[in-house]
Amino acid sequence: MSIGNGSMSRILVLYYSQTGNTEKMANAIVEGARNVANTEVDIEYHVDVDDLNRFDAIVVGVATYHHDMPIDVKNLFEEAAKKGKSLKGKTGAAFGSYGWTGEAPKLVLEIMKNKFEMHVTEPPLLARYTPDQNTLNMCRELGKRVSETLIHQA
Ligand SMILES: Cc1cc2nc3c(=O)[nH]c(=O)nc-3n(C[C@H](O)[C@H](O)[C@H](O)COP(=O)(O)O)c2cc1C
Repeated sequence: MSIGNGSMSRILVLYYSQTGNTEKMANAIVEGARNVANTEVDIEYHVDVDDLNRFDAIVVGVATYHHDMPIDVKNLFEEAAKKGKSLKGKTGAAFGSYGWTGEAPKLVLEIMKNKFEMHVTEPPLLARYTPDQNTLNMCRELGKRVSETLIHQA
């Protein structure tokens, strides 16, 4: 139950993970974000472009495959741009597991910042292969930081 008359902040954690590494990060981010009062967190591996405007913050988890972000994320941004969806001023963050180059989360942040004029947290949070305890703690911190940012905006 929420306390006081503050409105709920809504955070979307959208992630794509083939072997579970980025998924572990996503779960830790959700844990951190849910520890903050008046915060509602949705964790999804697919969203419709029309649902994006329901959220105050969009946190995207992408593993890097072939130096790129997953096609689903590309399509989501592509569609949002075509439909003229405004994400301006929303909070954005990106994270992901990688093996040797890890450019996918950086690409996501670039699009959020340059195309959609979102407020992004840089640099992205990366884990080499399976995230260790230290990285999972950084994920929890990121989740907490994103939800606290929203409180201060309200
Ligand atoms: C076919 C294939 C291509 C990959 N390409 C890249 C790459 O270009 N750059 C990189 O940093 N890691 C690359 N990786 C490593 C993955 O990013 C790494 O295994 C990561 O932990 C996968 O995360 P996930 O478990 O969330 O899917 C590749 C892995 C596979 C199997």
